[in-house]
Amino acid sequence: MLEPIAHVGLDPGTGGYVRDAWSEADMELREWFAGEAARRGLDLREDRNGNLWAWWGDPSPGRPGVVTGSHLDSVRQGGAYDGPLGVVSAFAALDLLRKRGVSPSKPLGVACFTDEEGARFGVPCMGSRLLTGALEADRALALTDDDGDTLADVMTRAGRKAREIGRDAGTLAMIGTFVELHVEQGRGLVDQGRPVGVASAIRPHGRWRFDFRGRADHAGTTRLADRDDPMLPFARMVLAARENAERRGVVATVGKVRVSPGNANAIPGHVSAWLDVRGPGAADVRALVADLAGAAEVREESWTPVVDFDPALRDRLARVAGGDTPAPILPTGAGHDAGILATAGVPSAMLFVRNPTGVSHSPDEHAEQADCEAGVVALADVLEALSET
Ligand code: GLV
Ligand code: MN
Ligand code: MN
Ligand code: MN
Repeated sequence: MLEPIAHVGLDPGTGGYVRDAWSEADMELREWFAGEAARRGLDLREDRNGNLWAWWGDPSPGRPGVVTGSHLDSVRQGGAYDGPLGVVSAFAALDLLRKRGVSPSKPLGVACFTDEEGARFGVPCMGSRLLTGALEADRALALTDDDGDTLADVMTRAGRKAREIGRDAGTLAMIGTFVELHVEQGRGLVDQGRPVGVASAIRPHGRWRFDFRGRADHAGTTRLADRDDPMLPFARMVLAARENAERRGVVATVGKVRVSPGNANAIPGHVSAWLDVRGPGAADVRALVADLAGAAEVREESWTPVVDFDPALRDRLARVAGGDTPAPILPTGAGHDAGILATAGVPSAMLFVRNPTGVSHSPDEHAEQADCEAGVVALADVLEALSET
């Protein structure tokens, strides 16, 4: 089922995907989603924030549905499974339920959230944050991409009413329970020799932008003593982040840097660096950022508090999805729309499918066909159970 979209946003040089929100690739994926919904006779809706919903049955606030799905956008040069596996597995699970002759007593929905990765505008889980009100509409509309286009510009060009984004209680009220299936982004299931697991928690995490300002000047004629080179405090910050993270037992990453003006023969005038920090405890995550702030202007781009998934729902999923032995229950350091919904009070849970490489946000991310099938069966079993009670 991933085959028909395998070419969309593919960089043939690297094997990686570039699927920014509201890009041409994203629009093609949205059309594919609409086609999959239509082929199954599902009722397609797009909410004010660009999230897509395909319904089997007609949900209402008095009769909310059981929803499953994930996202179709990607980090830059990402793998084929992070996001899309959850969407295709959702459609496949519905197919399996129909094949089993199940007629669910609650509406079942397939969801595709907009801009989960935040690759373009910097804020992850934008679609679900807007939906739940965790992100203010005005702030979102003013976010800019690398070309200086705002989200408002980009959505308008895509034919959407940008001014209407924001908290959407009507759509939220249709979601009785949300289950997101996702490729595992580490080695937990490989180590335990199990194809499918269940999430216990999402570790607290955030993104911060560090701006180091100096003075651009000639690389050949400016004496070292006369320089104000922002690359130096930036470099110190990267090394300090690593040391600080080791000390505090958290992880810290600088994966994106912008050097301006970007001449090989000039001292830069300005370096922007994005720091991503995650860990078991929010206090250590925040303390690391405070320790590093020294020479830079620091701006918080996103913050996601710890998510502890509902233990009763989690244990139920582990029993239903595990077959003879309950599925392993694992925490994750990756952010997901299911976490945003859980924080907003929607009973939510996640299934993970084994990733033999343990690698994610990279073309090396992988899932074996048999494990994907086990994931679909587990998801169908879970949906069947949840739609009965
Ligand atoms: C998204 O995948 C994130 O965890 O950053
Ligand atoms: Mn991801
Ligand atoms: Mn994902
Ligand atoms: Mn994610």
